[in-house]
Amino acid sequence: MTTVLEAYQREFAEALAKALNVTLADVERQLKPADPQHADFTFPTFALAKTLKEAPLAIAARVASQLEAPSFDIAAAGGYVNARIKAMPFTGHVLDAARAQGLGYGGSDSGRGKTVVIDYSSPNIAKPIAYHHIRSTAIGHALANLYRASGYQVEGINYLGDWGKQFGLVAVGFQEWGDPARKHEVSHLVEVYQKANKRADGDKKANLAPDVAFDESARAFFRRMELGDPQALAFWEEVRRVSIDDFKKVYQRLGIAFEHYEGESRYQGKMESVIAQITAKPGTKESDGALIVDMPYDDNEPPVLLKKTDGSTLYATRDITAAVDRFERFHFARALYVVATDQSLHFRQVFKVLDLMGKEWAKTLTHVNFGRVHGMSTRQGNLKLLREVLDEASARALEKVNENIAEGRMQTDNPKLLAEQIGIGGIVFNDLKNPRTTDYTFRWEDILNFEGHSGPYLQYAHARTLSILTKGGGAPKQCDAALLTLPEEQALVRSVAKLPKVVADAIEHNEPSLLARHLLELAAEFSRYFTAGNQDRTKRILLDEEGPLRAARLGLTDAVRLSLANGLRWLGLATPERM
Ligand code: ARG
Repeated sequence: MTTVLEAYQREFAEALAKALNVTLADVERQLKPADPQHADFTFPTFALAKTLKEAPLAIAARVASQLEAPSFDIAAAGGYVNARIKAMPFTGHVLDAARAQGLGYGGSDSGRGKTVVIDYSSPNIAKPIAYHHIRSTAIGHALANLYRASGYQVEGINYLGDWGKQFGLVAVGFQEWGDPARKHEVSHLVEVYQKANKRADGDKKANLAPDVAFDESARAFFRRMELGDPQALAFWEEVRRVSIDDFKKVYQRLGIAFEHYEGESRYQGKMESVIAQITAKPGTKESDGALIVDMPYDDNEPPVLLKKTDGSTLYATRDITAAVDRFERFHFARALYVVATDQSLHFRQVFKVLDLMGKEWAKTLTHVNFGRVHGMSTRQGNLKLLREVLDEASARALEKVNENIAEGRMQTDNPKLLAEQIGIGGIVFNDLKNPRTTDYTFRWEDILNFEGHSGPYLQYAHARTLSILTKGGGAPKQCDAALLTLPEEQALVRSVAKLPKVVADAIEHNEPSLLARHLLELAAEFSRYFTAGNQDRTKRILLDEEGPLRAARLGLTDAVRLSLANGLRWLGLATPERM
């Protein structure tokens, strides 16, 4: 599937290859998008000067005058050949592609026949799901959508931290403080866990010493789980189920459905065979009573621990086993781990072990890392819960919505639903708009800013395209693209044309922010277009007079609407029809 922009780029490249008498590959290595002020594509001649034994300026001038590329205006600028796509037939091609593909526009079939496994969200059970979990959740969800839109079979895995001492803490804590009637309330379980954790660890702030006996009972409980004690396992099952049911409420608000809920517990009893494989290659050895992978380590690099002195396995043991299991089940072309940068060493080591084991596919494993969120602790130093932040976003959005309705700036049949869509859209977009590896500071002003670089701003832009289309009697079936000659219109056409490339780049770099940024640009251009019409009546989309020009402008508005709707949906935002 070639996109419109690729087809034009190809035409320019072929003409260049012919004029220069070099191969298409030679040209394509150099050709790149131009600064939009000057052109659409630019071809630097410097690399060819040697082979052609001609000065770059001379090559550019000669080629510019000889080039047979009827879809372009060609000009030499120094040693560059610049090509600006002529408005027609380009505009027609872009509008047709967008409008024909509709809700698929921007996607592709590049992943057809391939599977991608995406490990995302993956919270630890029995512990609270804190705000910062939004990062893995939102980035992973956006990537899952983008891969799916590009034809991949997506296997989204919520790899729960569902095995470990924390269950012992909840169990022992429950005997102490638990209310059997509230056994099915996650908030109660979390409360119990937090108390138990403080007691076992000691409360540094209050200068309390750790309660060793308490901690030992928690460990003993976990050991019972490991040994398969039915009573201990029944308690674990129940806490696990209650927690998952609770997580699902948050995921539902975010529009997320995982293909798989599984977790570390899945690998209980399955690690021995993988440890045996590691022992065969690259080898294992004992170190202070523990079992470690025998492989070259960098200076100061901690060894990869497979088993502790007491025989218990570790996070890395489970991740190595899980990767082998995932490849056996899915034969993935890629597997992504959407996990904080803090765990970079862990993943580097896990991938290295798999590579040394001789797993061909180890090179397709990618740690999609991300930075931290600042400003999300409560005054007591506890982390804010994700659910509470979503509730607050929704409540704050509702205030704004009601204000806007009262002042006649907003319309909706369901203010509460709209507020939820805007509030959550604001949170999700705020998390995705910056390159994922950067840290960010959480600020409500950024999140719900209707005029700023925010989710609500984009949702509003989308709703506005719809309201214009509705006022104009709907999107026209046919329109004459040749009439779209305003600079504002041509800029918009280019933004719409770029969407498929932006999606492809976002997948290549596992970087949803590329799409987020592009949507902001598209919305800003649409806003400029719209505003231009307020100042100059001849530039209005909804011209007073019905006719081909008005239809063409509505056709363009329709293409913008589809681009915004698709981009927003893929990022995980709702697209309310009215706002
Ligand atoms: N449960 C882990 C945590 O909260 C994240 C798991 C990430 N996925 C993985 N395969 N290790 O830190």
